[in-house]
Amino acid sequence: MTDFKRTLITTALPYANGPIHIGHLAGVYVPADIYVRYLRLKNEDVIMIGGSDEHGVPITLKAKNEGVTPQDVVDKFHKIIKDSFQKFGISFDVYSRTSAKIHHETASEIFRKLYDTGKLIEKTTEQYFDEANNQFLADRYITGTCPKCGFERAYGDQCESCGTALSPTELINPVSMISGNAPVLKETKHWYMPLDQYEPWLREWILEGHKEWKPNVYGQVKSWIDGGLQPRAVTRDLDWGVPVPVEGTEGKVLYVWFDAPIGYISATKELTPNWELYWKDKETRLLHFIGKDNIVFHCIIFPSMLKAEGTYNLPDNVPANEFLNLEGDKISTSRNWAVWLHEYLDEFPGKEDVLKYVLTANAPETKDNDFTWKDFQARNNNELVAILGNFVNRALVLTQKYFGGKVPECGALTDTDKETLASISLIKAEVEKSLDSFRFREALKNAMDLARLGNKYLADEEPWKVIKTDEERVKTILNISLQITANLTICLEPFLPFSMEKLRGFINLEKLDWEKFGETNLLKAGHQLNTPELLFEKIEDDVIEKQVQKLLDTKKANELAQAKASPAKENIEYDDFSKMDIRVGTVIEAEKVAKTKKLLKLKIDTGIDQRTVVSGIAEYYEPEALIGKQVSILVNLAPKNLKGIESQGMILCAENADGSLSVVSPDKIVKNGAEVK
Ligand code: 2FM
Ligand code: ZN
Repeated sequence: MTDFKRTLITTALPYANGPIHIGHLAGVYVPADIYVRYLRLKNEDVIMIGGSDEHGVPITLKAKNEGVTPQDVVDKFHKIIKDSFQKFGISFDVYSRTSAKIHHETASEIFRKLYDTGKLIEKTTEQYFDEANNQFLADRYITGTCPKCGFERAYGDQCESCGTALSPTELINPVSMISGNAPVLKETKHWYMPLDQYEPWLREWILEGHKEWKPNVYGQVKSWIDGGLQPRAVTRDLDWGVPVPVEGTEGKVLYVWFDAPIGYISATKELTPNWELYWKDKETRLLHFIGKDNIVFHCIIFPSMLKAEGTYNLPDNVPANEFLNLEGDKISTSRNWAVWLHEYLDEFPGKEDVLKYVLTANAPETKDNDFTWKDFQARNNNELVAILGNFVNRALVLTQKYFGGKVPECGALTDTDKETLASISLIKAEVEKSLDSFRFREALKNAMDLARLGNKYLADEEPWKVIKTDEERVKTILNISLQITANLTICLEPFLPFSMEKLRGFINLEKLDWEKFGETNLLKAGHQLNTPELLFEKIEDDVIEKQVQKLLDTKKANELAQAKASPAKENIEYDDFSKMDIRVGTVIEAEKVAKTKKLLKLKIDTGIDQRTVVSGIAEYYEPEALIGKQVSILVNLAPKNLKGIESQGMILCAENADGSLSVVSPDKIVKNGAEVK
């Protein structure tokens, strides 16, 4: 670590076509933020780069679907994303965007340099073209039948049924997902990065030179390289992105994965005129924080681009994480299966650190992990409240109670006192070791050991009992407890920045450098503390149940959206329809039919008369809830005896995909007897 004078931290640029969710946070932004705050506390020269990735086909399609421009889409989400990061306390030094002018210039310059120095190869190939929309189709926007397994909705790059990697021309009966028409093959010219030429160098640089990279990263890189690298197109036929800076290439832009990582460089330029120091000086360390789906781009493609350019540093480490799932299912923006950051911030005001804590304690560092609301509640209540909050609260409240909130003198130390104080430095060493090797969940566990130490010390020393006989001893116990508290404000600052600011307020202490962590006289005797409040509060069951219900509703909405409507029945004449006499009536009485599960006996005021109808909706409506409700009723249906009751008509219901029934009611009150036609 100490071989470097400064550190440049980049965080994957999120696509500006949706908001940020807990998967992004756990994988990239929370660990990067912990690390950068740690280095800042050590007074190291470090900058953290972020920004929105605003190019690519999905953004153009979203714009098309919504009838707006791609710029409108990215403007909207860039703002949501930037605001939510800021409120959540992800401490970027700059948060930029790839539609910025400086980015277009930077990406063009780098492409042009590779082009001018012969680092790119030019190839003309046939690609699928959608004639109705006058555009070439990205692989993902062509579907067809898989040649391997016969699955009918395989994509142009992969069959999701059998997992085979495909190219679009292998699909049987290809269809454009944009127009629904069969695409045609058309010639087009593009530029490629000849990754195959970089293979020996990549092997040497990563497989030999970076054996210390996380096993999940190293393993993925190795399998890409061993599988043989192919030239990759770095341009696309599209009208949204950075235009290819070569004459005669109208309608072509840089591939989004060519320009996006260059966004790190553009954002650094936006931050400081000294940007080259961070990108080119050999004493700068470059770290990319990303999720596992970005490994190939950050470990193989971007480094090859930088190597080809020739003047930039290469990454020293890429501490990529695996994925976070939500309640057992893969997080998905399109299925709305996520906990969205902007919603969390609204629904849990003042609890930014709780989410940071839970996402770190459960970070998907070595394997995919699961976020559940139950675990969120348990970690808050059993760890933040019961361990950290409880210790701090006891130390502060007892000091208020016995010594008017003044830090008492430390007297003669017992062996336990000495051991306890010595443990602070041991914990510091453990936390550092974990942080320096990007093991953030372990680092947090080690950091929480300091609060555990304090709790155990208080529980063993029992100052509330000792006070009855030996006030001097209590002074020492509380002095030591307060020194632990002061150390906590340093130790937990990278993980829980809002709460540690609060805690510093309670003990009337400024923000201290990491270097001070381990000192045992941070609070001098006689120092006046402020009146403490609670650091964390318990989260009750109803709060959690509400979130779980929200997810259940999403699941249900998805199932309903997926369920296909039954095909239309054969046509009928208007006369057939007009034979049915459907009226609006009001339910005036409702009760369960004895010994049945499904039936309700209803009395309906139909405007013509009051009549009894038996309806199979008992599983979906409480009888009382129906009284006073207007419903549609077929009044000229021949009466029928059901369980000994004569049913005089039928209540109209809509049947959901899960078989549940919903009565069909007018959307405003109408007079009873109104005809439905
Ligand atoms: O996977 C993603 O969300 C990409 N937008 C990440 C880009 S990282 C960098 F290259 F900009
Ligand atoms: Zn298949």
